[in-house]
Amino acid sequence: MTNQLYAVVGNPISHSKSPRIHSLFARQTGEQLEYTAIQAPLDDFSGTVRHFFERGGKGLNVTVPFKEQAWTLADHRTPRAEKAGAANTLYLDKDQDLVADNTDGVGIVRDLQNNHGIVLKGARILVLGSGGAVRGVLGPILAEQPAALTIANRTVTKAEALVRLFAQDAGAAMLAACGFDQPDQPFDLVINGTSASLQGDLPPVSANVIGPDTVVYDMMYSLQTTTFNQWALDMGARRVYDGLGMLVEQAAESFYVWRKVRPETTPVIEELRTD
Ligand code: ATR
Repeated sequence: MTNQLYAVVGNPISHSKSPRIHSLFARQTGEQLEYTAIQAPLDDFSGTVRHFFERGGKGLNVTVPFKEQAWTLADHRTPRAEKAGAANTLYLDKDQDLVADNTDGVGIVRDLQNNHGIVLKGARILVLGSGGAVRGVLGPILAEQPAALTIANRTVTKAEALVRLFAQDAGAAMLAACGFDQPDQPFDLVINGTSASLQGDLPPVSANVIGPDTVVYDMMYSLQTTTFNQWALDMGARRVYDGLGMLVEQAAESFYVWRKVRPETTPVIEELRTD
C-alpha cells in the first residue's frame, strides 16, 4: 500500500517542526503516511491547496500567514474552527468538500492540563494579546470554566471585540478586556499570546500580575527560555512553560482528526526538546 500524503503549508515553512512531529507520530502508531512541508506563494494559497488535494493529498496543516485564508476557503467549518476565525487543519469529507478545523485551542488546553497539571476550572487567567493566536484558543479555554479571564492588549478595542465575540462561551466566568496598564493583581495563570517577542519586546504589563503562585505560559517556544518567561521568572513566577507542548498537542489532535488514531505526545515532546 502506498503511503497517504499529508503536509503543512506556510510561508516561510523551512523552520516548521510539523514534518518531524508527524513522522514521529506515524512511527509510533504504525500509520502509513508521508508528511511534507509546502511553501505556498503568498498570492496563491488556494491554488496550492487545490493542487495538493487534486493529486490525492489527504490532509493539510496550515500555518502563518494562511490560517485565515484556510478558514475562508473551506466549504465547511467545524464549530471550533468557526469560532476561532482561522483554521490550522484541512481535509476533504466524503463528498470531496473542503473542511476546515482548528486544533490550536485543544492543543493549549491539553498541554496546560495534561502535561503540566494546571487546573483551568476555577482559575483566574490573564491572556495577553488579541490577535489570531489568542482568538484561536479562547473557546477551548473558556470551556474549562475558569473563574475569570481577562484579555489585555495594546489595542484595547481588539480585546473588547474578543470579549463580545466570546461572551456566550464564558458561562459563569468573568470575561473582561483592558489595556496592559490595568491588571495589577497576581493571576493564577498568565498566558502570553502576543507576538511582541518576535521584535524582542515584552508586553508592558505590570510585574504585579506575577505572584509566587503564578504559572506563566508563553505560546511561543524556543530552545532557550523565552524573553517573556525569563521576565516572569525574574518577577518571581512559580513555573513557566513555553508553547512546544501546545505545538505537539495541536499536531496530535490534527493526526486524530485525519487518522482516528491518537498518538502519545509525551515521548514526542521529549524527543523534540533534545533535537
Ligand atoms: P498572531 O497570529 O500571532 O496572533 P496577530 O494577529 O498579528 O498575530 O496579533 C499579534 C498580537 O500581538 C496582537 O495582540 C498585537 O497587539 P495589537 O493588537 O495592539 O497590534 C500584539 N503585539 C504585537 N507586537 C507587540 C508589541 N511589540 N508589544 C505588545 N503587543 C504586541
